[in-house]
Amino acid sequence: MHVNLKGRSFLTLKDFTPQEIRFLLDLSHDLKRKKRMGIPGDLLQGKNIVLLFEKTSTRTRCAFETACWDEGGNATFLSNSQMGKKESLEDTARVLGRFYDGIEFRGFSQQTAEDLARYAGVPVWNGLTDRCHPTQALADVMTLEECAGKPLSQCKLAYVGDARNNVANSLMIICAKLGIHYTAVCPPELMPEAGLLEDMAALARQTGGETKVRHDLAGVGGADAVYTDVWVSMGEEDRFKERIRMLQPYQVNSALMEKTGNPKAIFLHCLPAFHDLNTETGREVHKEYGLKEMEVSDGVFRSSQSRVFDQAENRLHTIKAVMVATIGRQ
Ligand code: CP
Ligand code: NVA
Repeated sequence: MHVNLKGRSFLTLKDFTPQEIRFLLDLSHDLKRKKRMGIPGDLLQGKNIVLLFEKTSTRTRCAFETACWDEGGNATFLSNSQMGKKESLEDTARVLGRFYDGIEFRGFSQQTAEDLARYAGVPVWNGLTDRCHPTQALADVMTLEECAGKPLSQCKLAYVGDARNNVANSLMIICAKLGIHYTAVCPPELMPEAGLLEDMAALARQTGGETKVRHDLAGVGGADAVYTDVWVSMGEEDRFKERIRMLQPYQVNSALMEKTGNPKAIFLHCLPAFHDLNTETGREVHKEYGLKEMEVSDGVFRSSQSRVFDQAENRLHTIKAVMVATIGRQ
């Protein structure tokens, strides 16, 4: 089937068909091979992109910038714009749309990403909002595909932790779209939002997948990949106490990995991760609550099962694919 994504925004994976997501994954694998072979790219030559950030970032910013440069484009990083302070979102979007061929947005509200896309007249790419993190989920599935050694439709992914956050939402959506079996293993207080869960469970029934929620750790049984994310997302920094109470039993450690019953199960994390005391936040939490590691033990994070740095690298290739597909000369 012919897929053409030119001019499209990338706001949520809900907007994309399984064929379109497959196209983006195939393109990501191609672009990764091309980079490995040292073949210079020109697919974004003559294109300018702007990266609007309301929240901090390492991977997403660097992936957008290096992906753009690799293919001959130019990138502006903008974290102190007038938007919303001295200039309306609508006016800012219209101005950026005159300067740039594409806009990346990372921020607090999904609505801001949607509104930027409405007014800019050029594609807007979601680099994380309160609701979702779609470029992350593409990289996660690319990594699963590289490691699992079998078709995605035969893979089982268990997401353990805060199952209603941005990363979990996008994973649940991409799994349902591609027929990957998805189990959220989480406390009752941190279930995926009911409407989204219902929609994705219905979609998974059509694609041959399955979308489930379990509150007991045995829910990871049979998993090919165990995924976790931070217990407290950006913008929720006043929630440490309650989240530690809810999520401590769900820490991904060697005992939990053993519950998969699959010695080949891989460990995934979008990063950044709290697995030791080498961060300011990690040390503050240690001082106040006595924890040396949070969502993942240092042992699992550094184990041979961990694929977190492959996953981080794949942010580059998948983000490049999204830009090439939507604004590139391909
Ligand atoms: N995973 C991810 O989005 O990382 P950054 O916050 O560093 O961009
Ligand atoms: N859920 C995390 C993801 C960070 C990449 C957050 O929003 O902070």
